[in-house]
Amino acid sequence: MGKWFGAYGGQYVGEVLKPALAELEKAVIEILPSEKFRSEYLRLLRNFVGRPTPLCPAENLTEELGGASIYVKMEGLAHTGAHKINNALGQVLLAKHMGKNKVIAETGAGQHGVAVASAAAKLGLSCEIFMGSVDVKRQQPNVFLMKQFGADVQVVEDGTKTLKDAVNAALKDWVRESKRTAYVLGSALGPYPYPDMVRDFQRVIGDETRSQILEMTGRLPDEVVACCGGGSNAMGIFTAFLEDPVALTAVEAGGFGDKPGEHAVRMNGGGQTGIIEGYKSYFLQTDDGQVQSTHSISAGLDYAGIGPQLVQLYETGRVKFTKAYDSEVLQAYQEFAQKEGIIFALESAHAAAEVLKKASQMKKNSIIVVNMSGRGDKDLFITAGELYTHEWKTFLNEEADRLKDRSVR
Ligand SMILES: Cc1ncc(COP(=O)(O)O)c(C=O)c1O
Repeated sequence: MGKWFGAYGGQYVGEVLKPALAELEKAVIEILPSEKFRSEYLRLLRNFVGRPTPLCPAENLTEELGGASIYVKMEGLAHTGAHKINNALGQVLLAKHMGKNKVIAETGAGQHGVAVASAAAKLGLSCEIFMGSVDVKRQQPNVFLMKQFGADVQVVEDGTKTLKDAVNAALKDWVRESKRTAYVLGSALGPYPYPDMVRDFQRVIGDETRSQILEMTGRLPDEVVACCGGGSNAMGIFTAFLEDPVALTAVEAGGFGDKPGEHAVRMNGGGQTGIIEGYKSYFLQTDDGQVQSTHSISAGLDYAGIGPQLVQLYETGRVKFTKAYDSEVLQAYQEFAQKEGIIFALESAHAAAEVLKKASQMKKNSIIVVNMSGRGDKDLFITAGELYTHEWKTFLNEEADRLKDRSVR
């Protein structure tokens, strides 16, 4: 645990938030390592989340590409469909052990919100999710799921009405109510101690992958690839391999072009150092230091900032960063669906695209692992709209007509 990752990280918050963060730090140090907490968390990971998730050999693509053996870490088989539940469950359980009776969280795409709402329902805490009104419109299926889990969804109308405004609204609420409320942050970023805590809840992905690949092949992989929004699934799988001779590659959202606003590439010259939302890191910024708008076909990779530990690992050269364009992502999504029977989430399909580019150039007996951080069911409205446009439009129109009839009845 540490406040800093080289020059990055820290805790840049106003005096009003410091007591709540100090209370959280104390809980992370005292409660997380306790036998009582560990045994309950591990039991829930097994019985509720469905861990361990499998490591699946992608034999057909391996044979077709003729290079490295490809393995897929099937995080998308976790309950609620993505790795987000590992961290959401951990933080909600910690809140319960701290004596809180309510959790609040921000959400953009809705995956973190759904995971928190589900964990809160399971553990009997009330739950409020802050979401920008633009995201609410784009992600109605996830809003519906959060409500089914009993969460109260607060629609944020400030600023650009997206994730950063949801974070600000949630933080304001936390200041008012921190005595009974815990704030559950969704990626390995934000003010200390969140980057450490989120990474530690997610490192189960890498720990499992390490022992699975050793058991299956008798050796470590040559390379591990993960997509990178805020960085929680990447840090989750990379942490177990940091001390090993294993190449680590993070894939950012290349969007539809290289101009500002067309992508979310913060590394390799895209972003600049800044202090935003309580921590120091790289951010996509305009010339006058405002947060730059971003684009990605995947709702979970279009964040302007990135976790501070990943910036340190980039600057030391331990983690290499690359990008995948939207069009490459859709191709990889289809390749893995048709050749391996696996539907990747669009976020994770960025990592899949990198593996498809690289595997054929690697030696035949080498091993590459890709983290499928989520499954693609949640993206149906995007993927079907892109790949099945006419039929999908007809289906949606007919469904809208059917609902019109229902409201008349
Ligand atoms: C399936 C999936 N993968 C990846 C991400 C990106 O987040 P992170 O970089 O924190 O793993 C998200 C975010 O919503 C997601 O839903």
